[in-house]
Amino acid sequence: MIDYAWMWSELLVRWLHVIAGIAWIGSSFYFIALDLSLKPGKALPEQAHGQAWQVHGGGFYNMVKYLVAPSRMPDELTWFKWEAYTTFLSGFALLTIIYYTQSALYMIDIEILDLEPWQAIAISIAGIVGGWVVYDALCRSPLGRNDNVLALAGFVFIVALAWAFTQMFSARGAFVQIGVTIGNIMVANVAMVIIPGQKKVVAALVAGDDPDPRYGARGKQRSLHNNYLTLPVIFVMIGGHYPAIFATTYAWVILAVVIVIGAVIRHFFNTKHKGDPAPWWTWIFAGALTLFAVFLSHAGAPKYDEQAYSEYEFGTGAALHVAAVELVTERCASCHAVEPLWDGIAFAPKGVVLENEADILRRVDEIYWQAAVSHAMPPGNVIWMEPEEREMLARWRAMLKEGDTALVPTGANNDDSG
Ligand code: HEC
Repeated sequence: MIDYAWMWSELLVRWLHVIAGIAWIGSSFYFIALDLSLKPGKALPEQAHGQAWQVHGGGFYNMVKYLVAPSRMPDELTWFKWEAYTTFLSGFALLTIIYYTQSALYMIDIEILDLEPWQAIAISIAGIVGGWVVYDALCRSPLGRNDNVLALAGFVFIVALAWAFTQMFSARGAFVQIGVTIGNIMVANVAMVIIPGQKKVVAALVAGDDPDPRYGARGKQRSLHNNYLTLPVIFVMIGGHYPAIFATTYAWVILAVVIVIGAVIRHFFNTKHKGDPAPWWTWIFAGALTLFAVFLSHAGAPKYDEQAYSEYEFGTGAALHVAAVELVTERCASCHAVEPLWDGIAFAPKGVVLENEADILRRVDEIYWQAAVSHAMPPGNVIWMEPEEREMLARWRAMLKEGDTALVPTGANNDDSG
């Protein structure tokens, strides 16, 4: 019963996280598009900067933007902050439920750095906080006066941080860590810069003073950063489920490429929403970069060193098949069973059961992606698998793909040629 409650709580928090994220990104996309589509009008009120007409859900909307503030405080004002805060709170809860309480599975890889769980958690939190502190300092430094220079500096910083995380955490841990760090920067932009600035403007209005336009300009800059960071963050959150992307040597380079892809796609929509000619080149560029990312994930896959393990006999035909099935049941079934033996795992993870030959034959490709091409499974290599064992799984899958099924009687073509 406790196991079920735990599983449900994970699902409920995830549900909340995705919905809050949709609400936040939705309103962020909406306001950026609205901002860009504003046009000056003849009959605009005093101090108004521009307006837009929109139609939605059976009604017409006339949106008017005041660059600093209207001359009088409106009676009712809707703030946009709980979307961001809820995304953060639910995200942090998920990070805790999945990554922090099971850090041995999800964050630590002793081949990379032999951390104790508390150390992994401390480094993770320090990275999240430190990421914000440095980013915020960059924005406030003289670099922040030029949007392009700042973007470049921010990009270099995030990519360097992603690389640093890959030197400390497991591949999967490092990937989610950089996603959380960027997501936290976005939330902190709202909580520490945009909303406090708006509060100061409101306070000035109430006091009858002229609000300082700097707050509006700063808020807009941060809001634009958030807009450009949205697509990469979502990519990272989903990409954490694809070992061929995160469990490769070049995961941090892929992240860099995806940031640029996200930026050019946003550029396309931002330009279009402004009413300027749509820059179609952005799609060709994004497509070329995507191909490059595909190439990187292939090139960065762990390589098997034929020389180093030349002693190992892979076998062929039925012998190879029997050995592969034995290996998978031995190394994977302590977690991937109807009733797992592994402490802390109550259900077969993701419903993947690998207890017998039939189970295993159903999941040849998944086994290949998780345990042969990448080192995603066993998580953090907690149940040790040698490189040659992974290579054996790759050869086994290739043999099955060729149709040279394992049902060949043992010894029939056991010539060791691999
Ligand atoms: C120590 C426990 C453990 C061991 C051992 C283990 N796994 Fe897993 N496996 C997990 C967990 C936990 C997940 C769920 C990961 C997640 O939440 O994305 C998982 C997920 C998977 C998935 C589904 C991935 C997805 O996102 O759909 C596959 C396939 C898989 N493992 C294969 C293997 C193979 C093959 C082995 C043996 C080489 C193995 N696992 C060994 C714990 C384990």
